[in-house]
Amino acid sequence: MALSSTPATPTPVPRTALPGIELLPGRPPVLHTPAVADPAEWAGAHRDALRAAVAEHGSLLVRGLGLREPATTGAVLRRLADGLMRDQEAFAPRRKYADGVYSSSKWPPNQPMCMHHELSYAQEFPGLLLFACLEAPAEGGATGMADAAAVLDALPAELVQRFEREGWLLTRTFNDEIGATLAEAFGTSDRPSVERYCRSHAIEFAWEPDGSLRTRQRRAAILRHPVTGRRCWFNQIAFLNEWTMDPEVHEYLVDVYGADGLPFNTRYGDGDPVGEDVVQILNEVYTAHTVREPWRGGDLLLVDNIRTAHSREPFEGPREVLAALADPVHRTDVSDPLEGTAS
Ligand SMILES: [Fe+2]
Repeated sequence: MALSSTPATPTPVPRTALPGIELLPGRPPVLHTPAVADPAEWAGAHRDALRAAVAEHGSLLVRGLGLREPATTGAVLRRLADGLMRDQEAFAPRRKYADGVYSSSKWPPNQPMCMHHELSYAQEFPGLLLFACLEAPAEGGATGMADAAAVLDALPAELVQRFEREGWLLTRTFNDEIGATLAEAFGTSDRPSVERYCRSHAIEFAWEPDGSLRTRQRRAAILRHPVTGRRCWFNQIAFLNEWTMDPEVHEYLVDVYGADGLPFNTRYGDGDPVGEDVVQILNEVYTAHTVREPWRGGDLLLVDNIRTAHSREPFEGPREVLAALADPVHRTDVSDPLEGTAS
C-alpha cells in the first residue's frame, strides 16, 4: 500500500473531555482547567469541545490557562477560531498586537460600555468573540453578558415590532477630533477609498463643507441565529444612542458639533429619533439579564456574538484585555431582510 502524504484527520475531542463546566445563577459558565504547559496546544486539542460549549451556553469563561503575555495569547486565540478578522468600522480605536489580535476598545475607564454585539451595524461581523485578560483591574471592569434571545422576549412587543419592520439606523460623523478617525474606521483616509468602501458596504455618505464625513446605514435589529434558529436582539441601538451618553458629554458634543454632528447616534429605521424612554427600557432589560464574573489575570472568554450581548463595566487601575473578532458571518448568511436597503 502506498504511503499517503495526507496527514491523519485529527480525532475531535468530545465535549465530555472537558472538565465540568460550573453553571451558577448570575454568572457565565466557567470552566476551570488544570495548569497546562502549552496553552495553545491545549486550546487546539479542546477546540471543538470549547466551541460546542459556547454553542450550548452562549459563552464560556476558561480559567486556569494563565495567559500572561500577548504572543502566547495570540497563538491560543488563533487555534480557537476559524479565522480572525481585521477590525473595520470600529467606533473606538483598538491597539493592534498582531494580525487579528487587538486590545479592547479604548473607552474612558470611568464610563461603562453598555451592552452591544460587536459590529452589529456592519455587513460582515464576527460570529465568535475571543477575549483574554492579561491583567485584571483592581476594581470593576467586568465584561458583562446578556442572552439576546431572552432580551428580545423581554422587550415590549410594540417596540420589537417597529424595529423588526423598519430596522435601525446608525449615523456617524468622522471629524478626526473625536471618536474613531477615518483611518481607524476604514483603514484609510483616502477619500475615493473611503467612498468605495461605503458604496460596497451599503453605507450612505456625504462630505461636509468642513471636511468631515457623515455616514448612515440601515440594518436589521433582529437576526435569526444561524445554528439554533432563535431570534436574537442583535444591534447597538441603545449603546450608540445619544441618550446612553453621559449627560455632560452629550451636552458638550451637541454644543460643539451640533445635534446632527455627534460621532455616532442611532434612530428608528425610518429616521425618527429614538426617545430617551426607549433607550432606558432597552438598557434596563439588558441590566436585568446581565451575568458577570470579574476578570482574573490569565482568563480566556469565548462569546457567541449573535446569541450574547456584552458590555464593559467601569474600572480603576490598569486593565489589559486582548480581543479577537473571529468566524466572520455575512448578513446574507443570516437572512437580513434589510440588506442593501440603506435609506
Ligand atoms: Fe465590544
